[in-house]
Order: sequence, then C-alpha cells, then structure tokens
Amino acid sequence: ETVEWDPEQAGKGEYDHFMLKEIHEQPTALAQAIEGRIDPTNGRIALEDFPPGTFDGVENVQLIACGTSYHAALYGSLALNQAGIRATALLANEYSVTAPPVDDDTLVIAVSQSGETADTLSALRQATAAGADTLTVTNVVGSTAAREADETLFIRAGPEIGVAATKTFSSQAVMLTLLAQRIAADSRGEPPADLQSLLPDLAQMPSQLEDLLATDDAAHIARQYQGSQSYFFIGRGLGYPVALEGALKFKEITYEHAEGFASGELKHGPLALVTPDTPVFAVFTGEEDEKTLKNAEEAQTRGAPVIAVCPEGHRAVEVADEHLEIPDTDDELAGLLANVQLQLVSYHAAELLDRPIDKPRNLAKSVTVE
Ligand code: G6P
Repeated sequence: ETVEWDPEQAGKGEYDHFMLKEIHEQPTALAQAIEGRIDPTNGRIALEDFPPGTFDGVENVQLIACGTSYHAALYGSLALNQAGIRATALLANEYSVTAPPVDDDTLVIAVSQSGETADTLSALRQATAAGADTLTVTNVVGSTAAREADETLFIRAGPEIGVAATKTFSSQAVMLTLLAQRIAADSRGEPPADLQSLLPDLAQMPSQLEDLLATDDAAHIARQYQGSQSYFFIGRGLGYPVALEGALKFKEITYEHAEGFASGELKHGPLALVTPDTPVFAVFTGEEDEKTLKNAEEAQTRGAPVIAVCPEGHRAVEVADEHLEIPDTDDELAGLLANVQLQLVSYHAAELLDRPIDKPRNLAKSVTVE
C-alpha cells in the first residue's frame, strides 16, 4: 500500500492555505525581525550591519518598490518624514520616467520581498548609475537586489509561498520604521525622543498579534458583506498605506472590486461611488482620528456600512456599524495591527468565494519582466 503524500499540503500544516499560515506566522516573523535589533530597556536600536554613523549626511531618502512592497515603502517614507528626514516613496516602474534628482546626500532604498522584481532592480540600477547610495530591504539572502545594493537589511520573515504578500509586508514596515529612526539618529546626531514608547510597544507586538489572531472576528465581517458591489478602505497618515494595502489584498485574492483612499479624499470624488452596497473599512491609527471618523460618517450618511478598525473603547466603535478590534499601541504601529485584521477579512472573503487563494489568476509571486 502506498500513502499519498503531497509536499504542498504538508507544507501548509494545519492550515488550508499558505496565506492563512503566513498570516498566523506574523508573531514569529516579527519576533525574528526585531530579535537583537532593539533594546526596549534603554531605547536603543541595534541594526547590526549599520554601525552608528552609517547614515551620516543622509538628507534625502527615495524608497522604490512595487505592489505590496510599495505600500511598505510608503509606510517607511511617512515614518522617515515624521522622524524629520525628507523621504518619498516611488513606484519602481515609474522611476525610469519620473525619478526625482539624486545627489550626494540621497539614499535610495529598494524594498522588495524577493529581491528579484525586474521593475525594482531596474530602478535600483538607475539610482546607482546616478550616484546615489543604495540599500535594499529584502527577505531573500543572496537575491539580486541584496547583491547589487551597497547595504542590505534583511527582514528575516522566513519563506513566503502565498502569492499575496502578508507577513513580509508587516516585517518590511517594522524594519523600515526602525531604519527611519536609525537614519534620523545618524543624520541628526541624537536619537529621536519617541523611541522610549515605540520600542516597548514593538517588543509586545508579537504577543498582541497572537491575541488578535486568536479572536478572528474578520470571518463574520466577510460573511456579512459578501456580495457587495465594491469594497472601500480609508485611512489617514500611516493608515493610508494600510488602506491601500487592504484594498490590494482584497482585489488580489477575491477578484472583487476594492479601492483604498486617503480618508480626506473620499469627499473629493470617490464619494460619488458610495452606496449602501459599498462597505467602507476605516482604519484608525490615532492620527487625527476625529477627521477620519467624520469622513467615515459622510459615507455612512450615503448608506454605506462602516467597519471601523480601531482599539476597544475608541469613539469610532459607537459610530460604526461594525468594528474589528486592534490592541492598544503606539500610533506608529497601530496601522500594522489594523492591516492584519484586513488581511483576515480578505482571506475569509476569498474563501467564501472559493478562490484559489494561494495562486490568484494572472498573478505571480515574483515578476521578473518589466
Ligand atoms: C508581485 C507580487 C506582489 C508583490 C510584488 C513586488 O506583483 O504578486 O505580491 O508585492 O510583486 O514583489 P517584491 O518581491 O519586489 O516585493
């Protein structure tokens, strides 16, 4: 008698899909990412490859990436701006025609899970040729981007099989948040003050994620709004890249129409699309939440159900039709917890539609053509 053994099924363990497995691996992936790299007791960041002074003189940062990595890059650019460093996130596939000027004090950071995305490699080579210092934030040791950039920061998320990126987004965004503080410290000569609250909150993020994943309220939200015409995601500040990522994940694996907007942009056009058939997921990160709540209420007035992604006790809980809870944390990390709730919503929505979640049609894990 022979026993059927499917290596792919075996790799998934107790999970039906790699995506769900990888969503649940986030506490471990994050713990690995920050292991030895932060000291919450003294508020220090120790990125082993970058001794203090590595980023002396960096005045300008350009982050280049595609897809989900672009959303992490956008997150990182906002963290850099908040730390006092001029930074812009740019789509790598636009870089050849729209690259801003590069000079001696420009650092170009390529963000790529695989380190093999053709668009990103080509932008990285263009930046190198223009004389920029370069750094790659990647998951894959020995990847082309890791070999070609001057410096590399590994996110240590472990292999990601699902085409839709999940754990690698969280790890990229966390590492970029830390890197932003290191760049600011070198370039300004003193550590930014808010590290005292950021690092302890980061240290407890893996266990907070475990609690969040254990509840999984997202399944009933997915069921409740199944069959809607469109799904909208809004957020402000660091919640904006999370809204974009929430919508991208949703469209990738459910094949339903989804869009992410900056909360304040809703009234400048997208509101025309809002009906009772377009649920709006509103991400609250503690950055001008009153305004985001008002924007969500404007959608609600047009009949749209609002699902708030916010901490318990937040005012949005009373206003919204439904809510998905996130643990209390620093504003700089809240969006990443919210993102995990949105990953779960997308996963369950795709599961209800019986989509091939790990291998969505027309998409590839790594796109090696421009
Ligand atoms: C493909 C994948 C996306 C990914 C993007 C960038 O389109 O389907 O999930 O975000 O490439 O990949 P990278 O490896 O550069 O992060």
